[in-house]
Amino acid sequence: MSLPSHLQIAIDGPAASGKTTVAHLLAQRLKVLYLDTGAMYRTLAYMALQTGTDADNEGALVRLWEQASVRIVLDEMAPLGFRIVAGGDELDEMTLQSKHVTAIVSTIAAHPRVREAMVQSQRHIALEGPVVMAGRDIGTVVLPLAHVKIFLTASVGARVERRATQLRAAGIDVSLHQLAREIEERDRLDRERPFSPLVAAPDAHVIDSSEMTVNAVVAEIATIVERSR
Ligand code: DC
Repeated sequence: MSLPSHLQIAIDGPAASGKTTVAHLLAQRLKVLYLDTGAMYRTLAYMALQTGTDADNEGALVRLWEQASVRIVLDEMAPLGFRIVAGGDELDEMTLQSKHVTAIVSTIAAHPRVREAMVQSQRHIALEGPVVMAGRDIGTVVLPLAHVKIFLTASVGARVERRATQLRAAGIDVSLHQLAREIEERDRLDRERPFSPLVAAPDAHVIDSSEMTVNAVVAEIATIVERSR
């Protein structure tokens, strides 16, 4: 793999650690492109639900992704910071964050051939220009030569509060207890899967954001980026 010619910033971390909010704001501040790769796995989960494809059927999921020719357009004007068009429809946050999608997305993301297809698209997208990419394996697998790698963590309590606020803002009703259970279960699945498990890259800056505001986290990362140049 050759050295990236554009600035690449990888932001990884567990569910609801605030990485997508932070990554989006950072991209706006630095005036670079932004992609939340979790949305790609969520898109496939949504398509599996729509077509009745079994979340355990790796081959069928890969075919579904390839045949649907999902379009991902990095667009700072879009509400998410990018647009995902599948089957002619642009998917919104409410669809991507729905309970049904969330319930199966970790199972779908554990399949190695699904991950291969996603990683290939993500590397291709990274060629478009300077980018902040958020996910679980960006610094370890997708962009291993990224100029700056951040591993963003937070306590389960802080993450539950944040996810609840985010879901309520998207009009989705939640129980905090249920949310804590779901987040812990997704952490377990993401950390324990044999292929590209959630882990900090050895050269990542680890930031615990439990007691930090979003703006403070963005400012800290912006400083790290500045120093790396
Ligand atoms: O960040 P999120 O909650 O939207 O991620 C949804 C799921 O996708 C989560 O279970 C982990 C998985 N994921 C992944 O395995 N690798 C990525 N780069 C991004 C997300």
